[in-house]
Amino acid sequence: MSQLRGDYKAVWNALSGTKKDAYLVVSGYTDEDKFHADAEDTADILRDTVGLRRDDVVLEIGCGVGRVGRVLSPFVKQWIGCDVSANMIRLAGRRLLGLENIRLQEVSGYDLQPIADASVDVVYTTVVFMHLEEWDRYNYVLEAKRVLKPGGRFYCDNVDIASGAGWAVFEESRRTFQPKERPAQISKCSSQPELETFLKRAGFADVKVAGRLDFWAYAWGVKPA
Ligand SMILES: C[S@@+](CC[C@H](N)C(=O)[O-])C[C@H]1O[C@@H](n2cnc3c(N)ncnc32)[C@H](O)[C@@H]1O
Repeated sequence: MSQLRGDYKAVWNALSGTKKDAYLVVSGYTDEDKFHADAEDTADILRDTVGLRRDDVVLEIGCGVGRVGRVLSPFVKQWIGCDVSANMIRLAGRRLLGLENIRLQEVSGYDLQPIADASVDVVYTTVVFMHLEEWDRYNYVLEAKRVLKPGGRFYCDNVDIASGAGWAVFEESRRTFQPKERPAQISKCSSQPELETFLKRAGFADVKVAGRLDFWAYAWGVKPA
């Protein structure tokens, strides 16, 4: 594998050349009903953590084909999907055709530069941090704080290395791939303390962390008013 993990645009465009490939790399399946059901679960987690309000402008970092956006958009003022991959953005556009309160935005892979300061109420990222280097995870936490309005809410998640199933992910990759053969998008776990540290260091208030299904670590917080 000659691709650099940190060259996110090249890595993720190569993984999403066809609709089928994109769906598989986003979720591991192509069944639209399962997509919808899983997205409902994600929406419920967001409701339980950062909350969703009718007048919220909501932004997803790493939106893929709009799995979550399709479910969220009817309940918020605007949903903005950002992704490093032009292919993902194009496929999301097709999948979300007809929804009028959505905006899709290709980003560099390292920041949210096209998004104005203090313009968003909720930023979330799900099933993305495992594909990023730790520094780039933190860069996105900082960027989330920049684009959020005062009082805006942020949510992120990753596979928890301290959980049973998270440890299994870690061990499987360790055993399967020789150091020089690791795929660029291989999942790298995280932990509740890491996510908590990132949010607190970035200046979020009311930071909370939790775990779920013996697999996920997640964190959320509020940009101080
Ligand atoms: C496993 S998919 C998850 C997609 C979506 N969050 C979901 O839950 O359906 C990971 C997504 O993150 C995007 N991605 C990877 N690296 C990124 C980066 N550095 N910046 C923004 N998006 C990125 C990929 O293109 C892909 O669409």
